[in-house]
Amino acid sequence: MSEFVRSLKEGLLRRPRAISPKWFYDEAGSMLFERICDLPEYYPTRVELALLKRHAGEIADLIGPAVDLVEFGAGATRKARILLAALDSPARFVPVDISGEHLLGAVDRLRDDHTGLIVEPLVADFTGDMVLPPAIGRRSGFFPGSSIGNFEPEAALALLQRFERLLDGGWLLIGVDLVKDPRLLHAAYNDAAGVTAGFNLNLWARANREANADFVIDNWMHSAFYNPPLHRIEMHLVSRVQQRVSVGDEVIEFAEGDSVHTENSYKYTVEGFRHLAREAGWLPQAVWTDSQNLFSMHLLRGRSGS
Ligand code: AVI
Repeated sequence: MSEFVRSLKEGLLRRPRAISPKWFYDEAGSMLFERICDLPEYYPTRVELALLKRHAGEIADLIGPAVDLVEFGAGATRKARILLAALDSPARFVPVDISGEHLLGAVDRLRDDHTGLIVEPLVADFTGDMVLPPAIGRRSGFFPGSSIGNFEPEAALALLQRFERLLDGGWLLIGVDLVKDPRLLHAAYNDAAGVTAGFNLNLWARANREANADFVIDNWMHSAFYNPPLHRIEMHLVSRVQQRVSVGDEVIEFAEGDSVHTENSYKYTVEGFRHLAREAGWLPQAVWTDSQNLFSMHLLRGRSGS
């Protein structure tokens, strides 16, 4: 049984029902996520790209020459290209992603554009026991997109601690979405074109493809809302009807209105994130935000190597 199938069954049988958002990213889900990034309502990608373009030179000066750059959750590598173009003679680029086909396609395109750069893709789950290839220069990490927001605060702390050890005293450039007017957040996760709904519902389509499940997609509704006390967007899949779904040999009953929690997306204040980073063993060095305070990019320095 694949890890996805095991995790899906376990998540549907527990109460409250919940499935890790990492399972969104099969080939179809990764493509849907790329479409989300281009949506007018989904500001994080646009704002982070603008921050990167504006500050790439300054970031490159701080990070220094000949780094061995590791991107966690690389996806389309659109942001890394900006950083790589600004860095002084990067030694290597190691994009890590759980979605193999998607990563390898993006890497082929990157190699065409950055001839001479050593690119060593790693198909791996960076939340699991990922082993990086031996370093060939000072390691630096890149974790854009506010993917850190998809981890529970304790797991985010543990992940940042792990990155600190893995990067061995190097730098980490990390994108973090900020707490803001809930109306903007609501719009970003409930886009008019319904792409985010399709992304959420693709989880059931994936279960039908890979877990011998028989979800009727039309019987489910995308739900995303901001939970102010917890500073997070929650995404759920909500049953529109009373229904019975088979997942392999398991039959699961859902009442009308039953929900399966599929994602949290935590939003931080600049200070809140710097505090978390410090707790995880990082030394916050610089932070950049846009004029509307929608998104932040933090440059952290590891303690291990100092
Ligand atoms: C990948 N991650 C940071 C996205 C987010 O905003 O939490 C995933 C996403 N979910 C819905 N829209 C985008």
